[in-house]
Amino acid sequence: MSCLLVAQDDFIIINNKSSYGQKERPDPVFPHRRHTDSGLSCSYCHHRYLDGKNLLDYSELKAGNPEIRCANCHNRTDSRHGLMDSYHLLCMGCHKDSEIKYKRSGPRLCGNCHVKKR
Ligand code: HEC
Ligand code: HEC
Ligand code: HEC
Ligand code: HEC
Repeated sequence: MSCLLVAQDDFIIINNKSSYGQKERPDPVFPHRRHTDSGLSCSYCHHRYLDGKNLLDYSELKAGNPEIRCANCHNRTDSRHGLMDSYHLLCMGCHKDSEIKYKRSGPRLCGNCHVKKR
């Protein structure tokens, strides 16, 4: 899988304004390329579950494809987790694990992801 697809999305500002009404926190800036450069497979974060199996088709992972946006699926009331929880579980879950396993990790404190603009 080539990383060329995401080369332009080095940093993604995550802002699903319309899903929350009024946002409480500053928009997180997600260093996408830094994560893929660490050798994480795309399917660790991107998924299309069927009977508990991730059957993601990598050709779907194209910039601007609305179907791969987290909010496309986790926005719905019939989903087990709300949108904020789905991000928090994925992001902080792994940051916690990798801190234990690799001693190298990303933020778990609110203000280090929701960084106030100066
Ligand atoms: C550590 C988690 C993680 C990994 C690993 C990851 N992604 Fe992502 N990716 C995200 C998140 C989060 C978003 C933003 C989605 C959102 O907020 O709706 C995103 C967005 C994207 C987008 C959409 C960008 C846009 O602006 O439309 C593409 C394309 C993409 N990823 C491709 C890939 C590919 C290809 C790989 C593997 C080489 C990959 N991703 C690996 C988390 C990840
Ligand atoms: C095509 C639809 C779809 C997209 C897009 C999608 N998800 Fe999911 N996700 C699911 C389904 C279905 C499940 C499994 C059922 C459930 O727990 O809601 C799931 C499960 C999860 C889980 C595990 C929940 C648990 O019980 O532990 C997390 C965390 C998660 N998604 C986060 C994300 C994030 C973050 C993104 C964006 C990078 C994303 N998802 C994109 C459909 C999707
Ligand atoms: C599968 C594991 C994993 C997931 C999922 C993940 N991260 Fe990370 N993240 C890491 C690791 C490991 C590092 C440290 C990378 C390094 O040191 O190069 C990191 C670093 C970061 C950093 C710090 C970069 C810096 O400049 O110090 C930010 C910000 C970050 N992650 C945000 C996020 C957000 C937001 C999400 C969810 C959308 C997320 N991460 C999901 C593993 C993960
Ligand atoms: C690893 C990064 C990360 C950390 C740490 C983190 N968040 Fe988030 N948070 C996110 C992402 C990504 C979103 C999704 C933003 C969106 O959808 O617009 C989010 C969404 C939210 C939202 C819903 C959107 C809004 O602004 O109203 C709230 C509230 C929130 N977080 C509060 C917190 C609090 C409180 C903490 C500390 C306990 C925290 N977050 C820690 C990444 C993080």
